[in-house]
Amino acid sequence: MTVSSTPLLCPDPEGLARAAALLRAGACVALPTETVYGLGADARNGAAVAGIYAAKGRPSFNPLIVHIARPEDAARYVVWPEAAARLAAAFWPGPLTLVLPLREGHGIASLVTAGLDSLAIRCPAHPVAQALLAGFDGPVAAPSANPSGKISPTQAAHVIEGLTGRIAAVLDGGAAEIGLESTIVSLTGTPSLLRHGSITREMLEAALGAPLATATTPAAITAPGQLASHYAPDAALRLNVTTPAADEALLGFGPVERAALNLSAAGDLREAAANLFAMLRALDAQASKIAVSPIPARGIGLAINDRLTRAAAPR
Ligand code: TXA
Ligand code: MG
Repeated sequence: MTVSSTPLLCPDPEGLARAAALLRAGACVALPTETVYGLGADARNGAAVAGIYAAKGRPSFNPLIVHIARPEDAARYVVWPEAAARLAAAFWPGPLTLVLPLREGHGIASLVTAGLDSLAIRCPAHPVAQALLAGFDGPVAAPSANPSGKISPTQAAHVIEGLTGRIAAVLDGGAAEIGLESTIVSLTGTPSLLRHGSITREMLEAALGAPLATATTPAAITAPGQLASHYAPDAALRLNVTTPAADEALLGFGPVERAALNLSAAGDLREAAANLFAMLRALDAQASKIAVSPIPARGIGLAINDRLTRAAAPR
């Protein structure tokens, strides 16, 4: 039996104050957001940010997302073009990350951006994240709170499972409502979609009033969310399966028979997204082969298929 050496904090005034004090002291604290749990540290403190990489076992060339309390805080760190103002007005606070050029005097530790001259920034909507960011009153760098290469956590217990003993605390905000990492849009050049999420291309293009290019990954960045194998369970994963083999546990979608677990028996894509990572974890713990029902490639289904494809990629 493993004994948890990382405390769970309640999101009450005492727990929030404790979490903010830990961040101020340069420690790493996991926090809930509406997408997935993040592993936060003071983005201005290089040593604190190094703690994130150490806890996750993450290759240090991968840049992190900075979280801010209020949309208007963004202009302190990044250049703020009209396109950013439009997207922020439409989707912040919320599950959207914008990549923008760093501005002079930004104060963000270079380890956060892995030396790039752009910064990924997001204003999360989760009330506990909001309360912590407001109480801390500074920028918080936070990747998903999982060991590098593993499935993103959507519950405090998942964070403990992967990182206990390696981080100072986990602020418990319950199950993440969306369950998939934020949509990422780069505005450093031609606006382009870097990562699919619950905010879809159609929603973004409507808010921008212009089409979005599809990202071609710059070789120098190699975003982990863009690597072929990521979000990986230990079990072998087979996708678009209508007839599972006898030794496969079926992760169903829609009215399928023999599903070990069903992402959404009603065929609701939002429900499926919210369940995806927790159900992958649960099946991973009990089976060595997982088959997944076909998921429609529309709306948030595109982001679900993106994560599943990476989870199934050879490694
Ligand atoms: O929903 C989310 O986005 C969660 C929560 C905690 O906010 N965070 C998250 O972080 O998913 P992470 O580190 O697992 O993924 C961040 C992605 C990576 O693919 C990273 O490479 C990319 O953002 N990224 C960060 N800075 C970038 C930059 N300057 N240019 C391009 N991509 C960047
Ligand atoms: Mg991640």
